[in-house]
Amino acid sequence: EADLKKNLPLANKKVLVTAGPTYEAIDPVRFIGNHSSGKMGFAIADELAAKGADVTLIAGPTAQKSTFKNIRRIDVVSAADMLRECLIYFPSSNGCIMCAAVADYTPAEVAPQKIKKQEGSLTIELKKTTDILKTLGQQKQQGQVLVGFALETENEEQHAIGKLQNKNLDAIVLNSLNDAGAGFKSDTNKITIIDSSLNKTAFDLKDKNEVAKDICAKFISLLNL
Ligand code: CTP
Ligand code: CA
Repeated sequence: EADLKKNLPLANKKVLVTAGPTYEAIDPVRFIGNHSSGKMGFAIADELAAKGADVTLIAGPTAQKSTFKNIRRIDVVSAADMLRECLIYFPSSNGCIMCAAVADYTPAEVAPQKIKKQEGSLTIELKKTTDILKTLGQQKQQGQVLVGFALETENEEQHAIGKLQNKNLDAIVLNSLNDAGAGFKSDTNKITIIDSSLNKTAFDLKDKNEVAKDICAKFISLLNL
């Protein structure tokens, strides 16, 4: 097995992948979350592993399962948990594909007991989470490849390029939600990959397992620059 693995393009490469949503606790029984299924990130982790990488997969709450034994899975709940684990594993990795749908805001305080309903409305104060991808971009060393996602509904490319540059990424995967059959709950995605030289490649709507192959091929080419 070791001999077979040696010939694969990602043999001896360590890659960090994040997947799924994060859940931000409001009280002991409630949270703020999102509809990310984790499918895209798990498909990427599987594809990287199939190409010989040692994958560390940091996953938010998801029903997804992965089958490869060269995937180390670390389950997390919140954006703060995911940040902590990424800071542990990123420095020793050759690169990271940040696919998770990380919450942008989290409750300013977690109520220690279940919040009881009262007359009138309820206001929950939210504070911003740390941008994990941007933090990794600031820490990135020569040779490390950092790939992020951008989920946009308007001025898609302009916003994606803004994130690519602001977060010091090598490439960004623009997820187009304008097409039916693309996005969080779907089995298919329609992406455009933009790299730091602003080379753009638009792909057709396809199964997330096939999208993962396109993303990993780009990741491999960036690693070999
Ligand atoms: N991301 C992150 N940490 C956060 C928020 C986002 O690492 N706290 C990452 C996501 O995993 C994704 C990328 O940043 O790879 C872009 O996420 P997106 O939601 O599209 O962009 P934001 O920068 O959060 O901006 P906005 O939601 O306002 O469009
Ligand atoms: Ca966001």
